[in-house]
Amino acid sequence: MTAIPAAEAHLVLSSSAAYEDALDRLRAASGAYYAGENSPLDDASYDALRLAVLAWEAAHPDEVSGSPTGLVADGAAPEGDVAHTTPLLSLDNAFGPEQLVAWDASLQRRLGRPVEGGFTVEPKLDGAAVAARYRDGRLVRVVTRGDGTHGEDVSHVVGSVVGLPERLAEPVTFEVRGEVLFTHEQFETAQRVRAAHGGAPFANPRNAVAGTLRAKDRPYRLEMAFWAYGAVDLDGGSFLPVGATHAEVLAAVAAAGVRTTADTPAGLHVVATVAEAQARVDAIGALRAGLPFGIDGVVVKANSAAEQAEAGLGSRFPYWAVAYKLSAVERQTVLRDVVWEVGRTGVLAPTAVLDAVEIDGSTVSRATLHNPADITRRDLHLGDTVTVYKAGDIIPRVQAPVAGLRPEDAVPVPLPAACPNCDGDIDKSQERWRCAKGAGCALAPLVEYAAGRDVLDIDGLGRTYVKALIDAGLVTDVADLFTLTEEQLTVASGSARRGAKLAEQFELARSRPLSRVFCALGIRGTGRRMSRRLAAHFGTMEAIRAASAEDLLAVEGIGPEKAPVVVAELAALAPVVDKLIAAGVNMTEPQRPGLPAVGEADAADADGSAPAAGPLAGKTVVVTGKMTGRLDGFGRSQMNELVERAGGRAGSGVNGRTSYLVAAPSPTGKPSSKAVAAEKLGVEVLTPEAFAELVADYLP
Ligand code: IVH
Repeated sequence: MTAIPAAEAHLVLSSSAAYEDALDRLRAASGAYYAGENSPLDDASYDALRLAVLAWEAAHPDEVSGSPTGLVADGAAPEGDVAHTTPLLSLDNAFGPEQLVAWDASLQRRLGRPVEGGFTVEPKLDGAAVAARYRDGRLVRVVTRGDGTHGEDVSHVVGSVVGLPERLAEPVTFEVRGEVLFTHEQFETAQRVRAAHGGAPFANPRNAVAGTLRAKDRPYRLEMAFWAYGAVDLDGGSFLPVGATHAEVLAAVAAAGVRTTADTPAGLHVVATVAEAQARVDAIGALRAGLPFGIDGVVVKANSAAEQAEAGLGSRFPYWAVAYKLSAVERQTVLRDVVWEVGRTGVLAPTAVLDAVEIDGSTVSRATLHNPADITRRDLHLGDTVTVYKAGDIIPRVQAPVAGLRPEDAVPVPLPAACPNCDGDIDKSQERWRCAKGAGCALAPLVEYAAGRDVLDIDGLGRTYVKALIDAGLVTDVADLFTLTEEQLTVASGSARRGAKLAEQFELARSRPLSRVFCALGIRGTGRRMSRRLAAHFGTMEAIRAASAEDLLAVEGIGPEKAPVVVAELAALAPVVDKLIAAGVNMTEPQRPGLPAVGEADAADADGSAPAAGPLAGKTVVVTGKMTGRLDGFGRSQMNELVERAGGRAGSGVNGRTSYLVAAPSPTGKPSSKAVAAEKLGVEVLTPEAFAELVADYLP
């Protein structure tokens, strides 16, 4: 230990609360130390705190109970050596498809023939391995992996690990092996609980689980999760079916009431060939960002018990299993700044500005933070080294500062004093701060967007009138537009003629298709095209509102990161949608002729629109120039809508996949660049009149 700085050496504890707090900090620090985490205290501060605790205990001997100072190594060193029944081995790694194939080849060499019993594919959970012993249906002991032959007894976690019940329905005896981890949600809760006890934030869920398994005398308990990936018989018992495959072993474990990898959203898959295993690996990799916990790879195993026995074990890992590693999704970088933006509902959303860092194949320089309370709880400082998590397309997020790496000039993240959008007051009554004007703060741009040409298309409702209506308190959300009277519109626009015209426009807007009404809500990630796909897929607002995040995944362009955002934002907009319904606004999408009734989601294809049908089925159509004849006045967006209604796809540039170019003959006789390209590629060019005839049934 280093010398204690003079200032700290005289630390004196003045109350029993300060003493309790010091004990918590000592326990947290020594726990972190032995768990290999970043200790929240450097050695000198730890020593000073410990001396102060000893001094207080000497002065108040009656109040000393359960102090770590009385325990060996402050009670934090790994305690007891529990022998494993059979070694808990690690896994060999594969870093790409070739290495998976090479692993299969080495397995074939050992067996002297190709694998016949198939393979299993399951997630590689990113936590800590434990062996959990059940005797007569009771969970009697939980042991860490340790060095593989001896582990630490961590039975203190019994009762706080979801998926690892204390009692089973049947009096069975066996040892289950699997991973303990914090799900993302449990990790957030753990950070809160820990902060409430004055503990330093965990740098990430993995460190949190290592620390939590070892910290035996924390004054609080943190809930964790367990999924089994194996089991062995105990005490010479015969819980496992003779000759059971890996999948059957896990099925027996699940039937006994313990959660297995087969119960995770990534699942356990049995496949015949290594090529199929690779496809499953890719599929699990694609799910990663949407999983409720971290995975760092996918495990492929020979399924047959006989083949496993034949292949055998090395000293560190079995030859019959391999971990296909996925790229790292967590990095450390420096937090430089925090910027605040006002969301559609008036919430002030902080974004971290970071030193650029490469994570999971993309460069990350911004990441989300939760809210001011969370920033304070995590004690984030500008200049801190922080852990940043990003998987797939998920929005990167800052997890925690890395204790011990804070530069001297770091300053606590400044919190805004006024709304960064309108400079007005902030409502701080909840953890998520809002502009006191609520949705009104960002209302003008949203209403303008909603009234725009390709959305509700309310001709004449420009920026000035929108502002006048908002300032008059007549419009507090998009739905209020439909409650305006002609008189109110007259006042806002300054003339009876304009008021009457606007009222007429609102009447027309009331019957716009669902896709446009949905778009007008301004939900993140649902612009015009996405709104059309959603409306085509679900048919009614009711069906979209009833859809789960999983249901939304069936719509092209909606992935696991966007789906929950759409569900959450639509739910938050329930009062606005209800108001729109009450105002008689259309909530259905017109059906395409000859198709099953809208809302029959099963009839829709994977692309999220109804199955390709109509005269443009399978065709890509590009539109250019001014439309004429029956299509006179049709803008780009209306034309795209028409193409999609008639079963086609709207393209933007002419290429080899273009089926038709719709273009009026040039009045100057000089063909457009698109027409030239079409000619060159042999793409058929249709006049607007010919195209209108082709899609006549679909014209509004
Ligand atoms: S099988 C004898 N399956 O990864 C085979 N391990 O890097 C032993 N792990 O020590 C392991 N998910 O802690 C297996 N589905 C899974 C796993 C898994 C996570 C961990 C386990 C192991 C480590 C090896």
